[in-house]
Amino acid sequence: MTLGLVTAGESHGPALVAILTGLPAGLALDKVTIDADLRRRQQGYGRSPRQQLETDEVEVLAGLRHGRTLGTPLALVVRNRDHANWVWGMSPWPPEDEPSGKGSKRVTLPRPGHADLAGTLKFGHEDVRDALERASARHTAVAVAAGSVAKALLAGLGIEVAGRVVEIGGETGEEAQRAAMDAAKADRDTLGGVVEVVAGGCPPGLGTYATKEERLDARLGAALLGIQAVKGVEVGDGFASARRRGSEAHDEIDPGLTRRTNRAGGLEAGMTNGEPVVVRAAMKPLPTLMRPLDSVDLSTGEAAQALVERSDVAAVEALAVVAEAAVAWELARAVREKFGGDSLADVLAAHRAYLERIRW
Ligand SMILES: Cc1cc2nc3c(=O)[nH]c(=O)nc-3n(C[C@H](O)[C@H](O)[C@H](O)COP(=O)(O)O)c2cc1C
Repeated sequence: MTLGLVTAGESHGPALVAILTGLPAGLALDKVTIDADLRRRQQGYGRSPRQQLETDEVEVLAGLRHGRTLGTPLALVVRNRDHANWVWGMSPWPPEDEPSGKGSKRVTLPRPGHADLAGTLKFGHEDVRDALERASARHTAVAVAAGSVAKALLAGLGIEVAGRVVEIGGETGEEAQRAAMDAAKADRDTLGGVVEVVAGGCPPGLGTYATKEERLDARLGAALLGIQAVKGVEVGDGFASARRRGSEAHDEIDPGLTRRTNRAGGLEAGMTNGEPVVVRAAMKPLPTLMRPLDSVDLSTGEAAQALVERSDVAAVEALAVVAEAAVAWELARAVREKFGGDSLADVLAAHRAYLERIRW
């Protein structure tokens, strides 16, 4: 038993869609809570005006009745309100009327750092938009909705997942971060940063050491690197521990099975060890600059400036929410694998029996 997640949707298409499989029956979901996570993803200093335009909310098409999961695939939709401006440009069918609105002009100016060049070459697209629309991080909205569902499952087991910003543009204080974003905006530039996700309440033994596919540290790493613009992942003290001696790098065990430190970030040998799971993700500066970088015009082969399209200065605060969702999803998968069960009551009973056996 495990969880499955498939998403579909382009940045300016009609909607984003997610199908979640493997959820137990009887899990209570709450639209207000899921919508609150969607709003958190949209907020943050340095986001583009699109975030005011889109007030994301979740719609459920299947798998839920009267607020409880049925144990069948759960189908979620988040509409792109901005699609109203792209009806011609992102029409799924060949449009019959004259080109109008956004997306009606072919894009031929690939942005360094984005999917534009390799995606266009790889798929043989004529219009760079055919690559960038899906590569865009817009579909993280529906991944956040899926993460919200995962968090509801985890909450039943006393597991809480929270993401936060650590650094933006190299700055750790909020004021300095805002000043850095203001300065980057004035220079028509962009910034990246670092986020951290902590999951408390995990019992020891989620994930396992047998194969790389089962190691939870590897899976969390893949989940975080699977988010747009994430270029580095750290588990616990990660890179800092590479510079220490073993006596200062590990977490000694007390008779009560607790640890004096949590340098491992709650993960040893691909398994949770009962301490809070702590992972960090490094985000590169966003590739769409209002002062565009040098590129090429694919229609002429001549030197040109890259595409300028409405874009964020930084999206590190949004990444904290998206990374939280990704970690929650992966932990929920590990919970499904460990405790099985058709209904939430089955899951909770198996969880309780396990905690009793290990006297946790
Ligand atoms: C929440 C979030 C928001 C993003 N917003 C933007 C944006 O407004 N402009 C932009 O150029 N890139 C943005 N990105 C990053 C690009 O989607 C990403 O750099 C691009 O798809 C290329 O993929 P890669 O960076 O993983 O190599 C965002 C990423 C995330 C996670």
